[in-house]
Amino acid sequence: MLGELPHRSLQLLAQKYGAILSLKLGQVPAVVVSSHEAAELFLRTHDTVFASRPDVQASDPLSTGTRGLVFADYGPYWRYVKKVCTLNLLSASRVQMLAPSRRAELGSTVKSLERAAAAREVVNLSETVKDLIEETIYKMILGRGKDDRFNLKGLIKDQLSLIGQFNMADYVAWLGAFDFQGLTRKLRRNHKAIEDILEKIVTEHEQAAREQNEQNHNKDFMHTMLALIHQPMELQDHQNHFLIDREHLKVILIDMIFASAYTSIVVIDFVFSELLRHPRVIKKSPK
Ligand code: HEM
Repeated sequence: MLGELPHRSLQLLAQKYGAILSLKLGQVPAVVVSSHEAAELFLRTHDTVFASRPDVQASDPLSTGTRGLVFADYGPYWRYVKKVCTLNLLSASRVQMLAPSRRAELGSTVKSLERAAAAREVVNLSETVKDLIEETIYKMILGRGKDDRFNLKGLIKDQLSLIGQFNMADYVAWLGAFDFQGLTRKLRRNHKAIEDILEKIVTEHEQAAREQNEQNHNKDFMHTMLALIHQPMELQDHQNHFLIDREHLKVILIDMIFASAYTSIVVIDFVFSELLRHPRVIKKSPK
């Protein structure tokens, strides 16, 4: 019913039925919100009611999904993990601290584009942007970009593509037990492979910290999270005590990679495509 471009189909439905409409997707009730006033009601006024993400098959490949950041259900753990990540990983000072590394990556990409332009070579800008963002994000999170020993980027990409596929069991829950499309099996296999690689990187970080060889490791997310392992954090809610363990750490870092890398790649790709379609705007942009 929603077709190839669901956002357009939903827009047509909203024009007919109004800014807040209720749909049943298989067995799952869904609310579609299509005006900024209604969006404010859902995302601000009643934010906590809608803060949990849907319980989809992809969120829990090894029953660890809810320990992460993105798929945690709203509650004390949700508040805890968001606070840990906001204070320690996503603060303005942290963004500032990583600026030199971003600048260096960008500088080398610009130089390689200049060289290609001078030689009048054709450049696949989407690939170049993808490599730049991946390299920057992986260095920021794991302290390393390219690593010939693993195919982490390939596995993460495969996982994202599996997560994005239509899984019937998300809409008809009892189908989940049969995994007719084989998606849950693939997701679990991939998740395990990603976790195994992260386990190796965690061990190397721990070793580097022990040897106090902090040059390459002292600024990445993994290093910061390792320092928080088993450290209780002050919470307003004293009833609940949470400690980040090794498993949490790996799932949170996987969530971070998913959340940061491919969102940025898609947005930049989109901006470049639109600029190329509108040369008038390129002329207005700063040199
Ligand atoms: C242009 C690039 C980006 C776009 C368009 C984007 C967009 C979004 C959107 C729409 C959400 C969902 C918000 C919600 O459900 O309330 C989100 C969540 C998130 N983003 Fe981004 N994002 C981008 C870049 C980044 C980067 C660079 C990072 C990390 C360094 C990041 C980390 C996260 C995290 C951790 C979440 C989950 C937050 C949560 O569940 O509380 N994002 N992002």
